[in-house]
Amino acid sequence: MNTQELEQTYELPVYPRRDIVLVRGRGARLLDEDGKEYIDCAANVGVSNIGHGNEAVARAVHEQYLILGNCYSMFYNPVRARLAEKLASLAPKNLNRVFFCNSGAEANEAAIKFARTSTGRQEIIAAMRGFHGKTMGALAATWGPEYQKPFAPLMPGLKHVPYNNLAKMEAAVGDNTAAVLLELVQGEGGVRIGDKAYFQKIRQICDASGILLIIDEVQTGFGRTGTMFACEQFVVPDMLCLAKSLAGGIPMGAVLCNDRIKVPIKSHTSTFGGNPTACAAALATLQVIETEGLVEKSKTLGAYLLQELHKIESNKIREIRGRGLMLGIELKEKAGPYVQKLMEKGIIVLLAGATVIRLLPPLVITKEEIDAVVQALKDTLSA
Ligand SMILES: Cc1ncc(COP(=O)(O)O)c(C=O)c1O
Repeated sequence: MNTQELEQTYELPVYPRRDIVLVRGRGARLLDEDGKEYIDCAANVGVSNIGHGNEAVARAVHEQYLILGNCYSMFYNPVRARLAEKLASLAPKNLNRVFFCNSGAEANEAAIKFARTSTGRQEIIAAMRGFHGKTMGALAATWGPEYQKPFAPLMPGLKHVPYNNLAKMEAAVGDNTAAVLLELVQGEGGVRIGDKAYFQKIRQICDASGILLIIDEVQTGFGRTGTMFACEQFVVPDMLCLAKSLAGGIPMGAVLCNDRIKVPIKSHTSTFGGNPTACAAALATLQVIETEGLVEKSKTLGAYLLQELHKIESNKIREIRGRGLMLGIELKEKAGPYVQKLMEKGIIVLLAGATVIRLLPPLVITKEEIDAVVQALKDTLSA
């Protein structure tokens, strides 16, 4: 059997698949098994911010695994300690404690639990079109019957309100509200950017009522939107949920917390959370982001890409939105067929909802590669 047949035979069919077999990656380029090259504008859904095949991260993983690959957090470890300190130094003010886990869903699960232990309240308010992962707790916060319905009954205590609508948020909070959980730019929900004033007002409501503000930056973190964390452009949260690109493609999640967060000892732990191999990968990744100036690159190349996209003349386009290298092209029709056509032209992009083409290229993408992406979009959408 070939690769596709093997996967189809031996894996549960839960992923909508694309009809290519990817075997290699370097920078912002991917190669399929037939030797066809693609410009990657998906970055494994925002994982590969530093690009594919980074040698510094590869070396860090290799060396750390030989030194000490795993070390359960009941024991101290110097690599984990250095990463915790590094994240605290990068994070917005007061977010100086970290809980390590292994994925975005796990980071949100933890934050929801920490909100309950820290406030003694139960209710979490999330947004329609929000996406926070698919494990049971995170799933309750994720919007969408297609995700939630097959797994009912869900964890109780979650309420959804329309995104970026202050009046609805004000009406929803109450005496039992533990936390508000939001994305600053809704990724899966269609690259929708909330207003700074909306988040600032929510910050005030939370402060006035003893409610915690959880910001999910699993997709927007680590330079994606043109600042190290998107919250630098919007609001300072009480908990900041991170994952995806944190460790350069090695699975890792984290919740950064301020001193309002209280969790009983032993109540929430993880076998792999903070393992030295992932921590070494994260330290190397953060160094790459800093030394290669990827945050600044995301800002300037993102602005350039947005400007070039706006020049595309096509009556299929409803709206183009973006921050840094996180961009969405909303069409007046279903975007799926165009995603397929772009792939045939050697450009890999993502969907975000039914009608939005989402671009999340590695932040190492070059201006020439961006020009090629714009040309392919022009040819595809103007045709
Ligand atoms: C904003 C956001 N939160 C959480 C998640 C879930 O992350 P994971 O798939 O690592 O569980 C995602 C994944 O796309 C995401 O975009």
